[in-house]
Parts: sequence; C-alpha cells; structure tokens
Amino acid sequence: MKPAIRQARPEDAAVLQALRREAGWDADALPAWFEAVTRGERAMWVAELNGQLLAMVALDFFDADPEVADGNGTASVTSLAVTAAAARQGLGRTLTLFAEEQARSRGIRVLTLNTRPTNAAALALYRGLGYQAFKQQPRPWGEAVFLRKTLGTAR
Ligand SMILES: CC(C)(COP(=O)(O)OP(=O)(O)OC[C@H]1O[C@@H](n2cnc3c(N)ncnc32)[C@H](O)[C@@H]1OP(=O)(O)O)[C@@H](O)C(=O)NCCC(=O)NCCS
Repeated sequence: MKPAIRQARPEDAAVLQALRREAGWDADALPAWFEAVTRGERAMWVAELNGQLLAMVALDFFDADPEVADGNGTASVTSLAVTAAAARQGLGRTLTLFAEEQARSRGIRVLTLNTRPTNAAALALYRGLGYQAFKQQPRPWGEAVFLRKTLGTAR
C-alpha cells in the first residue's frame, strides 16, 4: 500500500471526525486543532489511497507537560488513527515514520507518544519503532503510558 500523505485541510473535518469516532475517541477538538495548526503549534497530515482518506497523524509542538512537548526540541506524535478497513497494512507505521521525518526536519530531537496502557496494537507499533515507556500518568481522557525516542540525524 503506497498512500499519498498531505497536510490536513479544514474541509477534511467531517471525515476526520468519523475516523476519530471509529477509534472510540471524541471528535470535539477538531476546530481547535485547525486553529493550533494556524498558530504553528500543531501540524496535521492525512493519508489517502485512491482519493479516500484512510488515516491521520499529527505533531504537537507544545503541551502543558514540557516532558511531552516543549516548543523547542521535544514534540509529541498524536492523534494517529487508521480506519479499521485499512488496518494492519502498514499505514500506522508509515505515518509514524513520516511524522518522525517531519519532526527531524524541524529540528526536533526527542519525540514522545502517549496511549492507553491497554492499547496493545499502538504499543506494539511504537515499541517496534524504538519508542520506550518512561512514565504513566492520567490525561484528561484517562490513564496514559508515555513513550519517547531520541531521533537520529537525517538519514
Ligand atoms: C494502532 C493503529 C494506529 C495501528 O495502525 P495500523 O495501520 O493497523 O498498523 P500497521 O499495519 O502499521 O502495524 C505496524 C505494527 O503495529 C503492530 N500492530 C498493529 N495492529 C496491531 C494489532 N491489532 N495487534 C497487535 N499488534 C498490532 C504490529 O507490531 C505491526 O507490525 P506487523 O504488522 O509487522 O506485525 C490502528 O490500529 C488504530 O488507528 N487504532 C485506533 C486508534 C489508536 O489506537 N491510535 C494510536 C494510539 S494514540
């Protein structure tokens, strides 16, 4: 599967909301997300195949917890979701690696991620890419395990 990856646009909002609901997440944050993109605090991409939007990923450059994202050398890969119909075909890995390249090109040296401790698929994906857990803490949506990875220099 060779998806086309492009920046998310406000007109993607309805499809992104459906993608988030399918993942069991709320979709209320989308307008705020696009505002954060405009302020340069977030970057957001989608993957398409044959014109169909199948997945999304984002980078957050700021977080209330500077260990997660500090607006400087540490950023967070967030909001990764792949539609169930396209699961287990490499899209999640492709988008995470794409976010890493984007972070590296912006001078980010440490990438963090967080997910529920029960999310076996996400944890297997992230550990397979070299992310290591460093703490577990509640987030507004529930208990989260935090992982991080130091990015190497450009390949
Ligand atoms: C987690 C998620 C992003 C994985 O996306 P995906 O495109 O299916 O994953 P990939 O095909 O790239 O898989 C990469 C690796 O992740 C792991 N993985 C993916 N799905 C898995 C599953 N259901 N069970 C166990 N491991 C899984 C495997 O190690 C896999 O490598 P392999 O196929 O070579 O064994 C997707 O299931 C999803 O969107 N889930 C709902 C939202 C979510 O949990 N997002 C991430 C947490 S914030």
